Amino acid sequence: MGKVYNSTNHTIEIPNIVRCDGIYLFDDKGKRYMDLESGVWCASLGHGNSRINDCIKKQIDAFMHAGFCYSGGIVEEAADSVLSVTGFDNGNCVFLCSGSEAIELARQISKHITGRKRSMTLHDSYLGSYSSVTDRNRNWYIFNWEECSRCPDKDSCDTGCKKLMDIPGDISEFIFEPGSSSGFVRFPPKPLIQNIISRVRSQGGKIIANEVTTGTGRTGKWFGYDHYQIEPDMVAIGKGIGNGYPVSVTAINERTVRELEKSTFRYMQSHQNDPLGAAIVNEVIKIINDEALIPKAGIKGVRFFEMLRSLKDNINVTDVRGRGLMFAVDICDEATGDRLFKKLIDRGYIVGNRKSLFRIDPPLTVNEDEIIEFINEFKILLN
Ligand SMILES: Cc1ncc(COP(=O)(O)O)c(C=O)c1O
Repeated sequence: MGKVYNSTNHTIEIPNIVRCDGIYLFDDKGKRYMDLESGVWCASLGHGNSRINDCIKKQIDAFMHAGFCYSGGIVEEAADSVLSVTGFDNGNCVFLCSGSEAIELARQISKHITGRKRSMTLHDSYLGSYSSVTDRNRNWYIFNWEECSRCPDKDSCDTGCKKLMDIPGDISEFIFEPGSSSGFVRFPPKPLIQNIISRVRSQGGKIIANEVTTGTGRTGKWFGYDHYQIEPDMVAIGKGIGNGYPVSVTAINERTVRELEKSTFRYMQSHQNDPLGAAIVNEVIKIINDEALIPKAGIKGVRFFEMLRSLKDNINVTDVRGRGLMFAVDICDEATGDRLFKKLIDRGYIVGNRKSLFRIDPPLTVNEDEIIEFINEFKILLN
């Protein structure tokens, strides 16, 4: 077998996946795995979704790629669909290839319009794999909200608070990851976020919502920022919007589009606004709407959360957090987490695992029997 470079520190636990069906993956020996992390948040409608597969086949036969100077009706249709779910009337969309890139473009736009260098984000946010977001030593203002989460005034949040007043006046853009918090699933208090946004905006900065993990219905609403009653200037969407195909979107509101039109800003890459990716985005949005998957995800999420919370009776589980169909389960220590993760894989259940944290982000199409089966198995393995 050829060697695949995997620069993460994750061991490849399932070497040869050959087939998929909905929430399940199958290896070459026919063993079935229930994928409760949707291929790292991506297969939001399940693996091998027949409508997505048909859409891909149809678009490949018609027109797959042409270069960014030539558009096609399907790209415009997909842009309309995205703008309708972000609520950006008269906005614009750019179709790209990864969540990291969608965030990068939104940052470049902000910097160009504001003429500023300094970015701002929360201390526990993940913004992709580009060096400009991973190296936070230069030109970043990092807001640590740990102490805000313990503040007695967190439900009101005083606009005159020193932490807010300390936010520098030269922020180009505040990039908000609404609730995934690098997969740890933590929810910054709503009044705090609203106050940060009004301060940054009043000083001329842009607001970017990083919806790479929390978007596409994951939290029981279209976007994670919908839980915060805020209006970002740009939204970076990835992962679930392509159901496993590498497409992402930067959605831009009307005001920012007007500013861009007056500027000299340019961004070009070979697969920008590709018809194939756009067709998939369009179909994902259609399926979610046709099958009312977002309200259903909200309801299933409440049931799943209740069941996961019942695991807290076990001494090995120290915390359970969630919103919609996005959950985190904290295990007492790394060694126990590691043992449990291996046992789950062995029994045919895939969850996201980082040290003692388990991430559970099933496809929005997960059904109640699958949830119950997993919880029962998890309970047995915990004992
Ligand atoms: C919150 C968040 N933002 C951005 C990204 C980057 O997306 P991509 O891996 O598609 O570049 C990720 C990836 O895991 C993510 O979790």
